[in-house]
Amino acid sequence: MQLYNSYQTSGQTAEPKPGQTIRPLFPFFRHNPDTVFLDSAATSLKPQSVIHAMLEYFEANSVNIHRGVYALSVKATEVYEQARQTIAEFVGAPSGSEVIYTRGTTEAINLLAYSLLKVRDELKDFFSAWQTGLGQGDVILISESEHHSNIVPWQMLASMTSAKVLFLPVKADGSLDYSPIYPKGSYHEAPVKVISLAGISNVSGVIHDLEPARAFAREKGAIFIIDGAQAVTHARFSLKNSGADFIAFSAHKMCGPTGIGALVGSRDVLSVMPPFMGGGDMIETVTTSGTTFNVPPYRFEAGTPAIGEVYGFAAAIRFLEQVGMAAIEEHERKLTLSALEMLQREQAIIYGPSLAQVQSGAIRKAGVLAFSLPGIHPHDIGTLLDELGIAIRTGHHCCQPLMSAWGIPAAARASLYLYNTEEDIEKLADGLRFVRKMFKKP
Ligand code: ALA
Repeated sequence: MQLYNSYQTSGQTAEPKPGQTIRPLFPFFRHNPDTVFLDSAATSLKPQSVIHAMLEYFEANSVNIHRGVYALSVKATEVYEQARQTIAEFVGAPSGSEVIYTRGTTEAINLLAYSLLKVRDELKDFFSAWQTGLGQGDVILISESEHHSNIVPWQMLASMTSAKVLFLPVKADGSLDYSPIYPKGSYHEAPVKVISLAGISNVSGVIHDLEPARAFAREKGAIFIIDGAQAVTHARFSLKNSGADFIAFSAHKMCGPTGIGALVGSRDVLSVMPPFMGGGDMIETVTTSGTTFNVPPYRFEAGTPAIGEVYGFAAAIRFLEQVGMAAIEEHERKLTLSALEMLQREQAIIYGPSLAQVQSGAIRKAGVLAFSLPGIHPHDIGTLLDELGIAIRTGHHCCQPLMSAWGIPAAARASLYLYNTEEDIEKLADGLRFVRKMFKKP
């Protein structure tokens, strides 16, 4: 493990700080020195230590886990299992046995949805709404602001069970409108069995106040899930403090590799939940007449997993912890205010909270900024910015219901992370002026 797992490999200090000085730790900038990378909400850049941790597995220890009695397999198994503890500590969960590896947030939510499809009364001791499995008229509550990965799996589950998906409305400033779940609200009496909401919007960057949803879930005896794809990357997240039953997230948005993520939740609950996929490693015994299943988390991890990616996942967390989540949050907070000021100055249309709302603390916002320029399609903004080497995302951001709620077809989005700087924001400002000039807009 210690072969490559060190910041010193790239000649940097042991305590990297967000901003300009951290950039040499990301080989991307060496390969793309002229790129202004403002698309970390889609996927973040990977530091050298993460790449090296993966190389260590693929070069020096490329064997399977859980199956071999030989030392190399035992070692790979130890790293793979130890990483669960690293992940659990990172998201404030009690132990590594509550961490299920998935391919990412999307697979984690699908895993839950498919397992819940098969639940009958197994969850009744944990959630009073689950005396029976999902059925006609039962409600899965999400919001208009969700990413498709937190909409489509629930719609698929609903279509298989005759349950209903209800949506909390989203406001123009990106915050959630909880009025339907308050007493006398239209959803207050609904037979809600699942509530699943993003902690941070991947479009507006709003850090949602999930407390009303948590309280409603407890009142209803429902399962409460957080889509943490953005929530774990920008600030310290604690599953315990959130009061949620599950969180789903991806490594690649937090400096880790693609193809790996986690579903984290109570081991007691997971112990009674049916598996999602069948195959090797998830079984206790298999006979010609049937199968009994392994305990969680293994029950939910059929087949040879993404072992090298788990090495990278743990290295990403070690990297973030070394930088410090508080330092990352503070860095992003300053850059977000600068970016909002810049967008206002450049007369951009800002989707989500205004500068005043963020400055006053009325709405908390991470460094994800959706915007447009009057009379110019977001795709044209993205294409012209690309000519200047500025990488942003444009389109519906896998959030078509949010676009519909806001009455827009698409938005441009700049998203910030620990390696972005004030200079990047000024370059974006220059780029927006260039776009306006090309379109002959004042
Ligand atoms: N969910 C990622 C994004 O928002 C891909 O860009």
